[in-house]
Amino acid sequence: MIDNTQSIQWFPGHMTKARRKIKEVLPLIDAVAEVVDARIPLSSRNPELKDIIGDKPHIILLNKCDMADKAVTEEWIRYYKTQNITAIALDCKTGKGLNAFKDTVKTALADKLEAYRQKGMVGKPLRVMVVGIPNVGKSSFINKIAGNTKAKVENRPGVTRGNQWFTIDKQLELLDTPGVLWPKFEDKTVGEHLAFTGAVKDRVLDTELLAMRLLEILAENYRDLLTKRYGDIDFDCDSYELLCRIGKKRGMVIRGGETNTERAANMLLEEYRNCKIGFITLERV
Ligand code: G4P
Repeated sequence: MIDNTQSIQWFPGHMTKARRKIKEVLPLIDAVAEVVDARIPLSSRNPELKDIIGDKPHIILLNKCDMADKAVTEEWIRYYKTQNITAIALDCKTGKGLNAFKDTVKTALADKLEAYRQKGMVGKPLRVMVVGIPNVGKSSFINKIAGNTKAKVENRPGVTRGNQWFTIDKQLELLDTPGVLWPKFEDKTVGEHLAFTGAVKDRVLDTELLAMRLLEILAENYRDLLTKRYGDIDFDCDSYELLCRIGKKRGMVIRGGETNTERAANMLLEEYRNCKIGFITLERV
């Protein structure tokens, strides 16, 4: 788990290291699979990745799709298609989408496979580097797809200390990111969205403010879910008042009839994170 304030201080140095390590292994790989959190497909990305990987084929894995709004996930997949990026939805808790991943890689890299075949290199596996900022589920993805078949360290380039290769099947090998990629912490909205999902601890941010920001998004896109969860609410107010109204519905009232907004904020964030309010995507195409 990352501490937001600390990360801002050491972000540049760490990114330089990760950038260098990724560039080193780029010649060894055929494609990059980027794991993102389907609930926040923008904020859960590394801002420099595109620049680092250049024109390597790029596949986006919208993970945690079990917690996201299915219709919006599909919109994202359609959007990426228009950008010539293959994207698929994944749920690494249950493994849903993992088989599609293998097929997707092979389809996306059909040209490469054909080139190998023409050069008589039939059987050469496709090599894909898996990247992702912390907490998007990169380890869950690799563990789930590789099972216990961690590739033996072989005597070939790229198999150095810290570079972990996994054999998935005869045609596919995965490389875990050498180094750590970070989100765009300097962007306030990104920090907030990562805090909503719990990727960044919210103790570094004001909980009530965070809950108000979350309510702004929910009141705009998911009014029906809020009403279903908390009962009829009059939305004709600012987000602080909305938080008060929701808290009151839950009996979080202190002396004088005012809402205990801190309790209400904690409740709201927790219920959002546990999908009690519903399956919600906070960032739209
Ligand atoms: P990372 O390597 O990218 O840092 O992420 P990691 O796999 O450690 O996953 C971070 C958290 O997200 C874990 O929860 C993991 O179980 C959860 N997770 C990963 N993929 C999915 C998914 O597709 N759906 C859902 N619902 N959750 C997913 P945790 O609370 O940190 O641990 P635990 O609950 O597994 O003990």
